[in-house]
Amino acid sequence: MIPAENNLPRKDDFIAVHDLGKSFGAVHALRGISFSVPRGETMAIIGPSAAGKSVLMKCLVGLYAPDTGRICLDGEDVSTTGNETRKKWAEKTGMLFQHNALFDSLQVWENICFSLIESRKLSRKVARDHAVDLLGLVGLDPDSAGLRPSDLSGGMQKRVGIARAIATDPEILLLDNPTAGLDPVLSNHIENMIAAIAQKRGTTVITITNDMKIARHRYQNLAMLHDGTLQWTGPTTEIENAGNAYLTQMLSGSSQGPITMRTGKRQDQLFA
Ligand SMILES: Nc1ncnc2c1ncn2[C@@H]1O[C@H](COP(=O)(O)OP(=O)(O)OP(=O)(O)O)[C@@H](O)[C@H]1O
Ligand SMILES: [Mg+2]
Repeated sequence: MIPAENNLPRKDDFIAVHDLGKSFGAVHALRGISFSVPRGETMAIIGPSAAGKSVLMKCLVGLYAPDTGRICLDGEDVSTTGNETRKKWAEKTGMLFQHNALFDSLQVWENICFSLIESRKLSRKVARDHAVDLLGLVGLDPDSAGLRPSDLSGGMQKRVGIARAIATDPEILLLDNPTAGLDPVLSNHIENMIAAIAQKRGTTVITITNDMKIARHRYQNLAMLHDGTLQWTGPTTEIENAGNAYLTQMLSGSSQGPITMRTGKRQDQLFA
């Protein structure tokens, strides 16, 4: 594990997280996480289920206030929710939630441009045209603009969530499993799009993914969480020499290693 003090925020860090802690009663979802991402770079977050990945993202976007530690964006402390600095950065951040979090009472295009209409007062006509453009970018046809999220397949809903995340042309893009449930061709298309956004617009991207191939080959940096702690972080080019047993097991998907699953008697009998 990388000690927090070795991973203190550097002056040129755009996203800097230091010693972040967040608990829900007895559940310690994050136990002193520290990492950083330079402006315009991409980072994949990996880790087993319940490691704290989604909680970390919700802290980054300002939905959860950390119990301990600090989050700095471009040198500004945004650890406290509800203040003006936090709100300013929330507006500069686009987020795809793990379960999309689309409003079923709104049409697809209204979901995509919700923040543009509410906060930036874009006219409905301009907003709808913008939404149709974004739908094209994620491979959906203009007819889907007028549908309700519940009329869409799971993969289509996911793509609407991605379109909403990029609708404001954010400086920071946070994506919780953008390719989960998508077929390989569509996954590839979405990852190409994410890379193009980072490269052409200079967007800083953090993506949670369960696809180790994507994490290794599509992102510049990697962070691995396990049980609320950071097991490893660094450039993906350094993974081979990381020498971290958790990381090695996560990347290989092996059942042998320090990451264990609590299994019942039935399971033990099945594999005996
Ligand atoms: N609002 C909440 N209230 C109580 N516990 C929570 C809350 N949100 C998350 N947790 C708990 O925090 C821990 C980490 O959850 P999190 O959603 O971050 O996991 P994850 O790494 O995203 O897992 P997965 O890969 O399955 O999505 C879990 O034990 C979860 O039950
Ligand atoms: Mg999650």
